[in-house]
Amino acid sequence: MSNNLILNNVGKRFGDFWVLRGVRVSVPAGKITAFIGPNGAGKTTLLHIISGALRPDEGAIRFGGTDIGGLPCHRIARMGIGRQFQDVRVFGGLTVLENVVVGLVPHPTQDSWRAWFGTRHAREALRQHEATAMRWIEHVGLQDESHRLARELSFGQQKLLSLARLFACEFSLLLLDEPTAGVSPKMVEKITCLIREAVTGRGLTVALVEHNMTVVADLAYWIHFLNEGRVAFSGERSHVLGNKSVRQMYMGL
Ligand SMILES: Nc1ncnc2c1ncn2[C@@H]1O[C@H](COP(=O)(O)OP(=O)(O)OP(=O)(O)O)[C@@H](O)[C@H]1O
Ligand SMILES: [Mg+2]
Repeated sequence: MSNNLILNNVGKRFGDFWVLRGVRVSVPAGKITAFIGPNGAGKTTLLHIISGALRPDEGAIRFGGTDIGGLPCHRIARMGIGRQFQDVRVFGGLTVLENVVVGLVPHPTQDSWRAWFGTRHAREALRQHEATAMRWIEHVGLQDESHRLARELSFGQQKLLSLARLFACEFSLLLLDEPTAGVSPKMVEKITCLIREAVTGRGLTVALVEHNMTVVADLAYWIHFLNEGRVAFSGERSHVLGNKSVRQMYMGL
């Protein structure tokens, strides 16, 4: 499989504090791999490092055979790695439709933004982007909200919007940071279905950080348990969720 993500001995420190150390994990293509662990274990930091928001202080990261460790975010995004944030980060002052379109419009290089939109060709391209965006907005069930400002949506709807934006951009690997945290049980179910469908229906790869163990048990093919910046345990889901030390360290059972 060419689009596997492989982290080899990855470490990150803030000052003298190693937030991550010796992380060796893989995220196989076409599957959902979950990262679980207590608050502060380093899960979000790990996604920051994979997506290029932070540089690793040691170790290597390979995606589809290419070394991506330390590359800037935009280069990593162009390689097909998309990121959802724990705090969502939709553009509150843009509409739902604009939030999705913004990810589809090519980055202006030599032409100014105005010139690009001014031409007939560009207007046609924009109409196509809007049609694509609307398809994904419908896919996540936000079609009735498409002209509302994102900040007016509920937190759960904002999470759906951030998924629509990722889906529209056709990333091959999605890094999802607690996609079901802080939303209603019905919304948890909906988001779980959308993630499952993206992988089983469209062949995407997902690295999922999640505290909801029902969701993890539902979705994950493989689980890495992080504790204090290290991978304490890895395995197939029932192996990890049934593991005595994981249950003691994390679930307090
Ligand atoms: N920019 C930073 N500077 C210093 N310390 C940081 C920074 N970012 C994160 N940390 C620390 O790194 C550790 C790991 O944080 P991280 O956000 O990765 O944890 P997490 O596993 O995602 O936790 P949660 O489940 O609560 O989201 C924490 O102790 C946190 O305080
Ligand atoms: Mg986190």
